[in-house]
Amino acid sequence: MDRRSRLASLAADHPLIAPSMLKCDFADLVGELSRLDAAGADVIHWDVMDGHFVPNLSYGPMLIQAARKRSERFFDAHLMISDPGKYLDEYLQAGCDAITIHIEAVPDPTPVLSRIREAGRVAGLALNPGTPVSAIEPFLPACDLVLVMSVQPGFGGQRFMPEVLPKLQRLKEIVSPKTVLSIDGGIAASTISAASAAGARLFVAGSSVFDAAEYGPAIANLAHLAGA
Ligand code: DX5
Ligand code: ZN
Repeated sequence: MDRRSRLASLAADHPLIAPSMLKCDFADLVGELSRLDAAGADVIHWDVMDGHFVPNLSYGPMLIQAARKRSERFFDAHLMISDPGKYLDEYLQAGCDAITIHIEAVPDPTPVLSRIREAGRVAGLALNPGTPVSAIEPFLPACDLVLVMSVQPGFGGQRFMPEVLPKLQRLKEIVSPKTVLSIDGGIAASTISAASAAGARLFVAGSSVFDAAEYGPAIANLAHLAGA
């Protein structure tokens, strides 16, 4: 699948499930990618952590670039890093289809979002649970995707924070209909319907996919509960 087809898959008007690779078996990355492919994962979500913006370290562009050769799926990179502009070219070269940066990491995200768009990728902006929508509102015209965090970023397996859902409702009112609204953290069978009703269309799911006995039924069930 080329990038154009992958970008078209994101534009489809149905809920998309994005397994978070933070929870995968790193010792069997190729096997995990192939199982996710067979399980019908729409998007592969890569959580990049620098031990500075968040108190945890994960992986960087070299791993994503290696995985790019082993998967045809849409790659959604979530950069939980300080100074994302400094490292952006490496994530573009790694073959990410969407790149999301955090509003809390940059005073003005516009230059980085513009570079992502100019490279023909999806430009995303994330906001932490404590950050109001008003903090990103001036930059929405530069965004193709908005990621609402429903946990404090840094770790998988945390409790979903329903108090962020009004932010999705507000975003739904003010973004262009083409903007992808995404939610990340604690998404499971018990929480995804509420997130969908609030306006999310792209659902990042770590534990609820990787802790399941079989990925296919887990992903299908999440998609069903999200309204697929
Ligand atoms: C948190 C990450 C999430 C997380 C999702 O910092 O951005 O993508 O790993 O994992 P679960 O679904 O287990 O909350
Ligand atoms: Zn994430």
